[in-house]
Amino acid sequence: MALISPSVLAADFLHLAKDIELVNQSQADWFHLDIMDGVFVPNISYGMPVMKSIQSLAQKPLDVHLMIIEPERYFEEFQKLGAEYLTIHAEASTHLHRSIQVIKSLGMKAGVALNPHTPISAVEEVIQDIELLLIMSVNPGFGGQKFIENTYSKIEKAKDLIIQKNASTLIEIDGGVNVENASKLIACGADALVAGSAVFANENPTQVISDLKNAH
Ligand code: DX5
Ligand code: ZN
Repeated sequence: MALISPSVLAADFLHLAKDIELVNQSQADWFHLDIMDGVFVPNISYGMPVMKSIQSLAQKPLDVHLMIIEPERYFEEFQKLGAEYLTIHAEASTHLHRSIQVIKSLGMKAGVALNPHTPISAVEEVIQDIELLLIMSVNPGFGGQKFIENTYSKIEKAKDLIIQKNASTLIEIDGGVNVENASKLIACGADALVAGSAVFANENPTQVISDLKNAH
């Protein structure tokens, strides 16, 4: 069974408490929080005050995906806001190794995200240091985009690397994940699935979360 991380980006921000509570009561494992700065990606999502509100109600670990340049400027702040997994983009980090060590020294689990064009080899030298490898299956910035099919072979490459390096890194897939492609993603080696619109645009989000959780 994969870990399921509903993306709050697709939730109803006018009734955020209702959607957080729904996830609390569901079979979901984590909350996926997308932080965008309008520079690294062509969109701005939400920031600290909203995350603080989410954290006050969330009863599951916060899986925080930073789509921002110079992410190291905010590590301490995200730690204070209760991030369990803090994921930064390889493309946004000049000193990726150092940043990973800082995240871990602050007591968080370190994740690295890769854009669709970035090969798995970009994390070859740090795979043993990270708890999470987030493979983007759409170009980051927006929910509701179409899944990029090339992701399947990328997951297999990531799995091979993890086995070869004897690492215990979890592979997380983010973008265009739904009940239809979940089984194939898991078969290729995905350990965690992020789902935004597939969950919250459905009239029965709890059922979708359960279907994703039971996909195999
Ligand atoms: C996209 C974000 C995703 C997004 C996924 O940049 O990283 O987490 O919320 O949304 P869906 O599942 O709708 O593709
Ligand atoms: Zn994300």
